[in-house]
Amino acid sequence: MTTGLTRTIVPQMSSENSLESANIVKSESVLNVVFLPATVTPQSLSDDTVIVVDVLRATTTIISALANGATQVLPQPSVDAARRVFAGMDGTSLLGGERKGRIVDGFTNGNSPVEYSTEVASGKTLILATTNGTVAMEHCRQAKQVLIGAMVNLQAVAEAVLHEPSITIMCSGTDGVITSEDIIFAGAMIDRIRSIREAAGIEPGKLTDTAQIATHHWRQVQFQIASGKPLADFFRDARGGINLVRIGLDHDIVFASQIDSLPHVPKLCTESWSIRL
Ligand code: MLT
Repeated sequence: MTTGLTRTIVPQMSSENSLESANIVKSESVLNVVFLPATVTPQSLSDDTVIVVDVLRATTTIISALANGATQVLPQPSVDAARRVFAGMDGTSLLGGERKGRIVDGFTNGNSPVEYSTEVASGKTLILATTNGTVAMEHCRQAKQVLIGAMVNLQAVAEAVLHEPSITIMCSGTDGVITSEDIIFAGAMIDRIRSIREAAGIEPGKLTDTAQIATHHWRQVQFQIASGKPLADFFRDARGGINLVRIGLDHDIVFASQIDSLPHVPKLCTESWSIRL
């Protein structure tokens, strides 16, 4: 079992230029946040466990569909790609997704976490194309492993990555712009990982600058939650939430703000490009 610490061998060269000794140096694990996929190259994630998040709503919807019995979710970079994959599947598939938050013409389903009930999702493959979330996943093709996170499975994902030495939280953003709800998730996830590690006597991990910014943002939100403001209100004021309220999908915001309501950790297999529990 690993301890969350990486061991680095540092060779010490003698005056004769031969290997004299090797010191074991403990290097702390790193917690990083990417505010928008476009700010990093896919290759830069090759050593990382990446947690992809689009709280409103793609990753919340994926977790909900799998929790309600969907066998797999196949994330797609575009509506056309999703249509092509769906055309090649049997009758047990769903074609889900959105444009501007609304169901796409000809799709069987939208991108609402509440619509993927057991009756709808159980035993089905969901082919999903969303504007930001499933596109952000494309950016993670070279990552060491990819997990799907949202507020609803915060604890489960934090426990799953506890011993990972290099963790990046990939925020999807909204239409290429940084969005607060994903940064709130990133800060909450970092806090959760560090507090579980501390309780277990594990080194909590070093924060990059973006991870520090996300953590500060989350602490401010947390402070106001403690004074009675619901998390959903922060989401309503965020870029992704404003659009959902405008088109009458407030119930999705309420669903997405239920911290730790689902114990599942979906994993995106980068070879089969399939998300499963
Ligand atoms: C996305 O992936 O772009 C979002 O989930 C948009 C939405 O709210 O449906």
